Amino acid sequence: MKTIIEPFRIKTVEPIRFTTEEERENILKDAGYNPFFIHADDVLIDLLTDSGTAAMSAKQWSGIVDGDESYAGARSFYRFEKAVKDITGYHFIIPTHQGRAAEKILFTILGKEGKSIPNNTHFDTTRANIEYSGAEAVDLVIEEGKDPNSLYPFKGNMDIDKLEKFIHETGVENIPIGMMTVTNNAGGGQPVSMENLRAVRDVLHKYNIPFFLDACRFAENAYFIKLREEGYGDKTVKEIAQEMFSLADGCTMSAKKDALVNMGGFLALNDDKLAQLARNILIVTEGFPTYGGLAGRDLEAISQGLDEVVDEHYLRYRLRSIEYLGEKLIDAGVPILRPPGGHAIYINAKEFTPQIPPEEFPGQALVCELYRFGGIRAVEIGSVMFGKKDKKTGAFIPASMELVRLAVPRRVYTQSHVDYVVEVIIEIFKKRDALRGYKLTYEAPMLRHFTALFEPIG
Ligand code: F0G
Repeated sequence: MKTIIEPFRIKTVEPIRFTTEEERENILKDAGYNPFFIHADDVLIDLLTDSGTAAMSAKQWSGIVDGDESYAGARSFYRFEKAVKDITGYHFIIPTHQGRAAEKILFTILGKEGKSIPNNTHFDTTRANIEYSGAEAVDLVIEEGKDPNSLYPFKGNMDIDKLEKFIHETGVENIPIGMMTVTNNAGGGQPVSMENLRAVRDVLHKYNIPFFLDACRFAENAYFIKLREEGYGDKTVKEIAQEMFSLADGCTMSAKKDALVNMGGFLALNDDKLAQLARNILIVTEGFPTYGGLAGRDLEAISQGLDEVVDEHYLRYRLRSIEYLGEKLIDAGVPILRPPGGHAIYINAKEFTPQIPPEEFPGQALVCELYRFGGIRAVEIGSVMFGKKDKKTGAFIPASMELVRLAVPRRVYTQSHVDYVVEVIIEIFKKRDALRGYKLTYEAPMLRHFTALFEPIG
């Protein structure tokens, strides 16, 4: 086997700034021990997110210059509409400034008190938009998806029996829509099989419940299907993606992931009445339907990105580079969520630092140490993000897993950057007994992880 190489060469570079451990200790303190408050210039390797952080291609940049900035009916919109229709097959394509804007529009129409919306695992913005509408967001991922050590190939799948039970208990009239997130970001970037998408579609459609995909990482999911699901090895990724979309009635999409751009998203769907309602809200909140919340140049970059993301040399490199990071950590005994996901490696902080109880945020402790020791920025996906307080007693309810996500931006870092990340994590792992927990000193009522402030304990 030859080494799987980056299928591009680098034409433009962006220097990164080196800082000392002492400087980083002060920066961390000033940031309230929340990496969201660190200036990006003070970060050496930024694995906070794979969202909006992709390096665009020369063709995407030329599209930026070529963008048609007309208010209505811009050429760039028609190119965008054609590119999205080509992959999704949906009739109505509504551009939004990012994924959560599509979610906001969808749940403004469909969500309200008394309604419940199932998903494999809702991403935090999806959950927040649903809850903001008054509805309830329900996660029905399979049990394997909650076990960090299970090697099941499609840990993003939904439990079909749980879905049937949920529909019976909730009542069809209270379920305006069902969703599936591909890949399942909050569950470790794990893929969903075509078989499971088909089964979810069959159940939802049996009860006339519309089925939508949260399609942010559709191409990575499609490539996992090609690699792992029987009958798909000889299909192209584009054909697999088209089949995935054909099973659903629409999708929300953050183009900041698998459309390889820095900003953008869309809502795409087949129902003309729903599309009309969505466009009416779009005009109030985002803009005229041929640009939504975007400039013509953004629409050009998305159109080109959708073409590039289904390239199989790209996807082979993409999935392999994440797996490479995962393998090196596994070899060193570092506990990670297995198997590696499509866009990120998730360190299992509960096992990494068993001395720190969930209420002292083991993931946050590790995130802070990654920055302090190595200048690496990652994000906690554990009890800071998903922990709750019991409404009556105020008692702490931990998240189901305490994870630290190392999300890899697309086409940005090389193998030596990844090797550096591995070295830093292994060093911290050797000294893990010295890590201590954190306590919250400020939290916002919703999506608290973005703005929370902390203090180290002891
Ligand atoms: N759905 C999923 C599965 C996501 O991962 C995200 C964003 C969104 C929806 C919202 O899209 O950011 O364009 O509004 N995820 C980013 C992340 C923020 O870091 O995982 P958006």
